[in-house]
Amino acid sequence: MNSRTKTGVPPGPFPLDALRQYAGGSFAQAPRHLLSYAQRYGPIWSFNLLTRRVFVLDDADAVRSVLVEQQQLFRKSRIQRLKPVLGEGLVTSENGLHVRQRRLMQPSFHRSRLPGYADAITAEVLRTIGNWQEGQAVDVTAEMMRLALTIVGATLFGRDVTSETQNVRAAVEELVTVWPKQLAFWNDLANRVLPFRPRPLDPIAKRLDESLMRIIAGRHANDGGEDLLATLMTAQDEHGNRMTAQQVRDEAITLLITGHETTASALIWMLAIVGLNTQVRERIEAEVDVVVGGGIPRFEHLPELRYTAAVFEETLRLYPPIWAFGRRAMEDLELLGYRIPRGSTVIMSPYVTHRNPRYFDNPLEFKPERWLEKDPPPKGSYFPFGAGARGCIGEPLARLEAVLTLATIVGRVRLVPERETLPDVAPQLMLRPAHLSMTPLHRANTRAGIVVQA
Ligand code: HEM
Repeated sequence: MNSRTKTGVPPGPFPLDALRQYAGGSFAQAPRHLLSYAQRYGPIWSFNLLTRRVFVLDDADAVRSVLVEQQQLFRKSRIQRLKPVLGEGLVTSENGLHVRQRRLMQPSFHRSRLPGYADAITAEVLRTIGNWQEGQAVDVTAEMMRLALTIVGATLFGRDVTSETQNVRAAVEELVTVWPKQLAFWNDLANRVLPFRPRPLDPIAKRLDESLMRIIAGRHANDGGEDLLATLMTAQDEHGNRMTAQQVRDEAITLLITGHETTASALIWMLAIVGLNTQVRERIEAEVDVVVGGGIPRFEHLPELRYTAAVFEETLRLYPPIWAFGRRAMEDLELLGYRIPRGSTVIMSPYVTHRNPRYFDNPLEFKPERWLEKDPPPKGSYFPFGAGARGCIGEPLARLEAVLTLATIVGRVRLVPERETLPDVAPQLMLRPAHLSMTPLHRANTRAGIVVQA
């Protein structure tokens, strides 16, 4: 603590007000509430949540300090609640186990592995587009959720499309609809106070578990394969130890859950925005036509799909799927001049900080060009994938998937939105649109620049 440490706690809403918003408000409203509090109280604000003090940051240096510079002073907060499903996978593990697992898994996400995933991605996107009928509305939300799950499934299980992998997929789809309700504040509290209360999540998690364990057991017998599951099963630490079947299961389910809803949410927002913004759409169409020329986008095209990539970046800026996450302080420390006592929770929100005019000019304007300019935004002001040792391991895969998906779709069809406004936010854990319906028209029918109705 130094002489410039401020006394007292940062300003913030009355505890009851905060609790009402935090606990009573739906997940759909929460990002907006957090933004309005940040605009009212500034770069650091705080409130009491029952017995704990919660600090919320909206400052690039402070975010960087927590996620990178002083990361050893923090642990992830509230991750216990995820453990019944994710076990001790990469998202939930801590300390030595996390370091070991991260080291074992990192090679699977290395740049050199990306070309191998690229063809699997475009094959799935083409399959999806192939099912769309000219002029018939498609449920883009459902289609992108399915596509993203299929892609992460394909990277995990390779060509292993059996009834068992189908069971995994069905269970994951069910899980992500039921889980947010179980994690909501009052439900969570009731589950803790009444341990024998029936939990709808349990049978789904059990089914998922059993299918995954059967796949893993089958793989041991056959051995081989180049997919992510094979990598998880054969990776060895410096002592020559491999993961146990349980550990492989925990990592597999972690990747399935973290790797599909996040990317799907970003894809849905991106398609909604492109559909509503003629200038952006025309510029992507022009870029894709020149770079890919009517063929199938490949890994080698990526460096030239710069505007398409910028559209993804700008989508993540305004609609980051993981819109807030937290850390628990393991020691007394200081942030922005305030004392943060050990045990406090520190929350950072990409949604809020990405909309701060201190870091982004006209922050509410969707402007992909800002990513083509020379200077990147200040460190710590843009963090859709987090940062530091706990930053997203799937970031390269997510970027690859998003750019290839957008380029493949835009090269073939124009998706015309049903409504003239962006969809509402869904009451889910991630920031994702509630429902988006769009009508595909073949690009060949729109080349003259006029949208031809089917
Ligand atoms: C647009 C897509 C994605 C976004 C916005 C995203 C965002 C994030 C963020 C913000 C974190 C850090 C959370 C924290 O620090 O508390 C994270 C961690 C993680 N993400 Fe992603 N993610 C995306 C895609 C993926 C994909 C495709 C995969 C895997 C296939 C993945 C796997 C993970 C894992 C395993 C972690 C935990 C890493 C660790 O703690 O070591 N994510 N992600």
